[in-house]
Amino acid sequence: MVDLSSEIGQRPGRPIAWSGQTYRLIRPSLADLLGSVRRGAQIVTAKDAVHLLAIAGVGPGATVAEAGAGSGALTITLAYAVGPSGHVTSYDRRPEFLEGARANVERAGLSERVTFRERDVVREGLDVEELSSVVLDLAEPWEVLASARAALRPGGYAGTYTPTYNQLERTVRAFRSLGFDDVRAVEVLERGLHVGEGGTRPEFEMLGHTGFLAAGRKVE
Ligand SMILES: C[S@@+](CC[C@H](N)C(=O)[O-])C[C@H]1O[C@@H](n2cnc3c(N)ncnc32)[C@H](O)[C@@H]1O
Repeated sequence: MVDLSSEIGQRPGRPIAWSGQTYRLIRPSLADLLGSVRRGAQIVTAKDAVHLLAIAGVGPGATVAEAGAGSGALTITLAYAVGPSGHVTSYDRRPEFLEGARANVERAGLSERVTFRERDVVREGLDVEELSSVVLDLAEPWEVLASARAALRPGGYAGTYTPTYNQLERTVRAFRSLGFDDVRAVEVLERGLHVGEGGTRPEFEMLGHTGFLAAGRKVE
């Protein structure tokens, strides 16, 4: 245990001597927070999570519902984006995942922006309303889209993350049949670059597949 209370209010990055070594305290970025998530369920990677923010209309002051909480990686991204004036309600039907997500969000320092609820959203739907966004990462998002639409205020977005084409097709079919507007689907591929003087090229390896994103907007 290291007592760092003397550092509160100090300028980040100044050297701290402790036990013969020198350390620097710097504020964690979103990437740092996501990198330290303790995993239970499979998480949404940063490249997909930040693109979901864009296509599901999540920003400062937003009121968002999310299911399922899983490990809380997407919850952290949403809570980070909504800022202190926004809020995220995060559902999961399994209490052990809720607890894991809650612990990860607390370690990220974002607990005040998130309410966790144990609920099967396929069977019971969402119990919040006037939302600006609903974000779904569970096996059957098409089963939740009617309830999501009812919980959204006009102009609000629903966004989904699904690992297979079959799930994506069923999800987009549901978006369309429920009358969502501006329905879109996208895959985000991220390729690292090896940057060397006169030898810059793509990295040989990349994460080939994570999941597919879809989104639609409620317009009455
Ligand atoms: C892949 S994980 C979500 C991972 C999470 N987005 C993250 O980034 O850490 C899917 C979660 O959805 C939950 N889930 C599945 N069906 C559900 C339902 N009908 N209602 C609520 N949660 C559900 C599961 O318990 C699981 O925790």
